[in-house]
Amino acid sequence: MAGAVKWKIRNVVLGVLLGSICLYTYHYLSRCGTILWQDCMGINRPKFLCVDFHGGMANQMFMYAFGLSMSMQRNLEYIVPKDMMLTEIFNITPNTFEDHRYHSGSGICTHQEEDILDCGYDSRFEKLPSKDLSFKGYFQSWKYWIRYEKEVRKAFTFKPWISEMADKQIRNIMTKRNATYNDGTTFIGVHVRNGDYSNKHFAEFGYRLAPASYLKNAMDFFRNRFNKVLFIVCTNDLNWTSQIIGKEKDIYLTPAGNPAPVDMALLSLTNHTVMTVGTYGWFISWLTRGITIHYKYPYVIGSDFSKQFHSNYSDHFYPGWIAME
Ligand SMILES: *[C@@H]1O[C@H](CO)[C@@H](O)[C@H](O)[C@H]1NC(C)=O
Ligand SMILES: *[C@@H]1O[C@H](CO)[C@@H](O)[C@H](O)[C@H]1NC(C)=O
Ligand SMILES: *[C@@H]1O[C@H](CO)[C@@H](O)[C@H](O)[C@H]1NC(C)=O
Ligand SMILES: *[C@@H]1O[C@H](CO)[C@@H](O)[C@H](O)[C@H]1NC(C)=O
Repeated sequence: MAGAVKWKIRNVVLGVLLGSICLYTYHYLSRCGTILWQDCMGINRPKFLCVDFHGGMANQMFMYAFGLSMSMQRNLEYIVPKDMMLTEIFNITPNTFEDHRYHSGSGICTHQEEDILDCGYDSRFEKLPSKDLSFKGYFQSWKYWIRYEKEVRKAFTFKPWISEMADKQIRNIMTKRNATYNDGTTFIGVHVRNGDYSNKHFAEFGYRLAPASYLKNAMDFFRNRFNKVLFIVCTNDLNWTSQIIGKEKDIYLTPAGNPAPVDMALLSLTNHTVMTVGTYGWFISWLTRGITIHYKYPYVIGSDFSKQFHSNYSDHFYPGWIAME
């Protein structure tokens, strides 16, 4: 009796195992069959590079820039899904497996790599060969794409509706504040990241927020340096920001309600940048190409978040940017 039960269990286990293998093989071959066949027959085909795009706009900008430079270095087809967020915002067009007449799920046929430091540079990637590759991670280092900066800047050109809206807004601000590009005014974009970053989850991971004293110091840096300045401030936490700044005559606090890409485009029309923390401010600074001040302590020392950075975080912050506290 016991023997028969054991026998039955063994058969069930075997059946499930065989079924899973069959299902997996079918799943794999239906996606990768063409590629395997072509490689087997020595048929020339494009090699592909995929990035697992996820997270907010600026996270995806780092991912996109990384993938662009990796694919250019290796002459790989850079797969950009149809629904990828940045194709709605920038001069980036989708490039899918279907466009090359492969199965849409061909990403599973590529060799997967993951970054070690999300906010640092992983030099292992330099040595990867020119084969099908896919990447998972955050890749928040300019070092990955500094050689292709021109191409990255070209890709990160805003769609006309965004740049037109930003242009209209800065003209409005100029009218309201009686200032122009040509009257000696230096425009400083200020991005205050607070709101979401102050929640428990971010705090426990080790994110730090720039305090009000930092903003005052960073703005005074520009007040001392230039004759006439106008600060244009965008924030994801208007409540907090309006309590600490906004009363001074040289500050224009933009009202809530702008789409995130328009805020980024608007601040990139200024001459210099005060960022606080986070990747969104990072890209505003990089797009503006002026003097950039960033908060010196973006993470809690010893936290999980701090471990994502290279020791002196020079991989992450762009060369020449000034850290202040
Ligand atoms: C606007 O600025 C110009 C030049 O900076 C100045 O001559 C003029 O008096 C200002 N107008 C007002 C209304 O403040
Ligand atoms: C600020 O930027 C504008 C637009 O790029 C430029 O025309 C202007 O000369 C700049 N002003 C200063 C003071 O750098
Ligand atoms: C605005 O900030 C104050 C003080 O930090 C807080 O008490 C209040 O709840 C905030 N209001 C909103 C709408 O978040
Ligand atoms: C940061 O560390 C790297 C590698 O250890 C070094 O090459 C670089 O000079 C350092 N930068 C600063 C600003 O200390």
